[in-house]
Amino acid sequence: MSASESPIASPAPGWAKRFPRDEKLFVVLVLVSVAVMTAFSVGWLFWGSQNVPTRAEIVDQKAYAAQVNEFAKRYRADDGKVWVPPGTDAYMLAFRFGWTPELVLQEDTKYTIWISSADVLHGFSIVGQNLNLQIAPKHGFGATITPTESGRYRIICNEYCGLDHQKMTSFLTVVPASEMAATQETIAAGGSDTSGGGAAAGAIEISADESNALRFNVTELSAEAGTVTISMANPSALPHNVAIKGNGVDEKGEIVGSGGTSTVSADLAAGTYTFYCSVPGHEQGGMTGTLTVT
Ligand code: CUA
Repeated sequence: MSASESPIASPAPGWAKRFPRDEKLFVVLVLVSVAVMTAFSVGWLFWGSQNVPTRAEIVDQKAYAAQVNEFAKRYRADDGKVWVPPGTDAYMLAFRFGWTPELVLQEDTKYTIWISSADVLHGFSIVGQNLNLQIAPKHGFGATITPTESGRYRIICNEYCGLDHQKMTSFLTVVPASEMAATQETIAAGGSDTSGGGAAAGAIEISADESNALRFNVTELSAEAGTVTISMANPSALPHNVAIKGNGVDEKGEIVGSGGTSTVSADLAAGTYTFYCSVPGHEQGGMTGTLTVT
């Protein structure tokens, strides 16, 4: 080390102007690589087939949620999944913290999947596939995809959206045409769907909060021992269900979107139970109450 480079001695006069040849070469190489990379990131908009064609539209949140519910009711099979016939657009809703409904698509068939958010910004991503969409509230994003291989694909959220962000997963299933056709027949034969149709006979009727707050319209319920049924209407834009737990009981109704009805039944002995919404985060957010059985 020469004296002029000592950390305690002052540097030689003119040190700041030193700009040796290799350093110049380095700067030139950096500039060239930046230029090439920039050209590629623009060029990739046009080259290759890695960009999933997407469309975006402004949507009314509540109307969209109702549309998802209608769509799900129409094509829901006995397995609870929604089997999308070829030629039909699919609709999904992202919410804290989940995706609804769970879709089944047919292999080698072009689909447009519309997704919107019921609350905050989420990220739609299929693990292992090159598909990442930002899902914002009040906007519907349509991705046109052609699944080429049967299988079960995991959907995750890749945008931090709250404390249970990492629990925000679901699945997308792709099946051969024969399986899709067979299931469509059973769905058609099943006639009008049983779920989300309205309150069950003799049920205690409650409702989720209309203004999307995480609460029911009641916090206290009472019933006589025996079979207790609670039907919850969901007028909000968020997906909810009604569930009962306590004293060894753990029963959950179906998660329904806007306009749907979730029903849960349980054989209850006298005691104190909790009724709540089992969508992650909703019970903690206040969607809970006490059910007293006498
Ligand atoms: Cu939704 Cu993270």
